[in-house]
Amino acid sequence: MTRTGWTVRPKGERDVDAVVGLLAEIAREGRWIATEWPFDVNARARSMRDALLRRWCVGWVAVDDRDVVADLTIFDVDAPEPELGMLVAAPQRRRGIGRALLEEAIAWARANGKTALTLRVFPDNDAARTLYFAAGFVDKTVLRAAIARRDGDALDAIVMRRAVTDAPPP
Ligand SMILES: CC(C)(COP(=O)(O)OP(=O)(O)OC[C@H]1O[C@@H](n2cnc3c(N)ncnc32)[C@H](O)[C@@H]1OP(=O)(O)O)[C@@H](O)C(=O)NCCC(=O)NCCS
Repeated sequence: MTRTGWTVRPKGERDVDAVVGLLAEIAREGRWIATEWPFDVNARARSMRDALLRRWCVGWVAVDDRDVVADLTIFDVDAPEPELGMLVAAPQRRRGIGRALLEEAIAWARANGKTALTLRVFPDNDAARTLYFAAGFVDKTVLRAAIARRDGDALDAIVMRRAVTDAPPP
């Protein structure tokens, strides 16, 4: 899918280093994702490459002229309701990239007979929550103190679910 200035395509092994770089960038923002900076970049790249090669996950990236600027990954692809995670580089936000990536994920879920897609989001992540609601996700449950932080804190996360077929939730 091509839009002004960016394109979405399936994520492959060649994207791993760039996606880990993006993850590091967003982890450094320190508020949106469970991954905290610093982390072992090489180990993360190895496990991401491995997961892609073994087809434990699928994903899409958005690229501008040169760089990978966004990633959406669906984990545990054999589950009936797999979980996704997504990242858009700060300078590229609010250009429709997140919405386009979610459209790919929902199309994949439909084509692969999934009942739903799920995700976890911090309650104060208004940008993500607004995007997810607009894409048809609804709140399923709140996980209290579920995301442990290195400073000893533990943050709540909201599980959201987007039905893909008409089957009832498990
Ligand atoms: C959340 C995130 C993925 C959104 O990606 P994006 O590419 O900026 O989103 P889009 O441009 O496709 O936005 C689509 C819609 O979502 C909503 N939205 C997105 N960002 C918003 C914001 N900052 N405030 C309010 N609504 C917002 C709007 O309804 C928007 O439509 P509009 O621009 O036509 O009004 C991005 O902000 C991000 O990567 N944040 C940091 C990492 C993160 O939070 N990941 C998700 C963890 S659960």
